Amino acid sequence: MAHAAVVAAVAGHLPPHVVTNHELAQRFDTTEEWIRTRTGIVQRHHVRAGTATSDLAAEAGRRALASAGEDHADVVIVATTTPDRPCPATAPTVASKLGLTGVAAYDIAAVCTGFLYALQAGASAVAAGAARRALVIGAETFSTLLDPSDRTTGVIFGDGAGAVLLRAGARGEAGAIEAVHLGSDGTLADLITVRAGGSEQRAHPDDEAHADPYFRMDGRPVFMAAVRRMTESAHTVLRRTGWAVDDLDHLVGHQANIRILHAVAERLGLPPERALVNLDRVGNTAAASIPLALAHGRRERRLGTGDRVLLTAFGGGATWGAAALTWPDLPDLQHPPAT
Ligand code: UT7
Repeated sequence: MAHAAVVAAVAGHLPPHVVTNHELAQRFDTTEEWIRTRTGIVQRHHVRAGTATSDLAAEAGRRALASAGEDHADVVIVATTTPDRPCPATAPTVASKLGLTGVAAYDIAAVCTGFLYALQAGASAVAAGAARRALVIGAETFSTLLDPSDRTTGVIFGDGAGAVLLRAGARGEAGAIEAVHLGSDGTLADLITVRAGGSEQRAHPDDEAHADPYFRMDGRPVFMAAVRRMTESAHTVLRRTGWAVDDLDHLVGHQANIRILHAVAERLGLPPERALVNLDRVGNTAAASIPLALAHGRRERRLGTGDRVLLTAFGGGATWGAAALTWPDLPDLQHPPAT
């Protein structure tokens, strides 16, 4: 059988501080009801000052390694929009926090599609024999990027991390990554952006008056592009695997907005209850969103061994993608972490 990467563990981690819609309704010109009905989000977690993305990523990674009974991965890949610093990458710090100093470690930047890009990189390394085990992490501290006066982004985003450990295996076995599709359209870069801090708009003291350091999103066109691209990408991986839509047990979409998840399910012809949803509790955690949803699905035993799972996401770049896998046979969590 052909070589494939197989999921050996899934884990998540959330910082303890919860921010409710009620709290945000006092901070912004919005209401609890608007946030809940327009996005599906009820609460999200935010880091306190002093907690970096690498802290969340390392904890999710540690839990993934522990749940597989492993203490080593040959490569650590961190998908993030909120690295600890613009330079260097966050993954080497995460690897060292896990006691893995010396292994290959790098970041991937594809905003909310970041986890799928990282999954493709990790799965390819494992399937090609370049790594026996790959630790693929999505981690964000998005709260650090938010404009305190912008109600649109302020109510949506949350912080967290999710991790998947991949091992070498064969296509067709439970847990195998069967197909990944990725895409991008750089003409849409302005729809989701942080302008300052890069080569275009330097983070230099002299530029401070003109630089915009905050995350900006044009919500409506992003919404429409997300529904279209996530649906198309889902169809592409279904074609590659030969699976029919009816064969799908779970749609695990990027947790951006409940209306996007239901629109994608509807366009695919799936009942809405097959869309796994945890954004009510965590908000939009960008690159962490899909692995966190998988971790919650696992903890709540919503995913069964051999179930057919389709992942799909859309994010800044613009970027998008989808992946098809079967759910692995994972040991029951004795003491499930409270992610
Ligand atoms: O993670 C990467 C991918 N991101 C996404 O997929 C996000 C996609 N976009 C969305 O989820 C939605 O577009 C939002 C949740 C951001 C906005 O919802 P919407 O239904 O698309 O609202 P809208 O932007 O069309 O705005 C409708 C109204 C506007 O008021 P007017 O112009 O109709 O008077 C906004 O000013 O809603 C207003 N609005 C708000 N009202 C209360 C926008 N944000 C808020 C708010 N509270 N927080």
